[in-house]
Amino acid sequence: MKRLAILLSGRGSNLEAIANRIQEKRLPAKIELVISNIASAVGLEKARQLGLQTVVITSAGRVREEFERHLIDVLKGHQVDLICLAGFMRILSPFFIRSFPQRILNIHPSLLPAFSGLNPQRRALESGVRFSGCTVHFVDEGTDTGPILLQAVVPVLETDDEETLSYRILAEEHKLYSEAISMVLRNEIRLEGRRVIQKENESRINSTLYSDGKELSLP
Ligand code: GRF
Repeated sequence: MKRLAILLSGRGSNLEAIANRIQEKRLPAKIELVISNIASAVGLEKARQLGLQTVVITSAGRVREEFERHLIDVLKGHQVDLICLAGFMRILSPFFIRSFPQRILNIHPSLLPAFSGLNPQRRALESGVRFSGCTVHFVDEGTDTGPILLQAVVPVLETDDEETLSYRILAEEHKLYSEAISMVLRNEIRLEGRRVIQKENESRINSTLYSDGKELSLP
């Protein structure tokens, strides 16, 4: 069974969604451990309730390299196959990224490359876009810039505020992340520059458009 490490700093709803998929046997993987840089993260408590192994590696007040060496040691010690950032509020240096080539995923609540960085839902609303969504991407040395695996589109409604838009995007995140993890673990994809190619048909992965809760396939 492939081993996942989930790194989080906050609420942990994506962790829960991934754990549920695994429990429902829709994602053939094991959450080997959940790591947080914040000891009081709500997501850690959720992980414990799910019976998962948790590790706190505090980042505050530590030199980045020392923190990352510790993190790398723990991850290598557990021989994880894939590292999934899920609300992990800490920029990882090239030193860390290069230790796990093409083995780190992140989920971001916007249609990248739009609204990378902080507060993407608020910025989507302020900018007047009609559609936003979420993206699962490989982590490279930039912030939210790595090759895109999957995206889900969510319409921005006239009546939306930051909370309602975030909520609808989050519902899509919970489906999308497990799908992307599954693709990587099954070794179904390869990278061609920044493009993610499906090995089976040598074409880009079909995207999924979610509109008003309905799933539409895009070519
Ligand atoms: C999600 O919106 C995710 O896209 C972003 O951080 C948030 C984490 O939420 N990177 P949760 O902790 O998984 O509930």
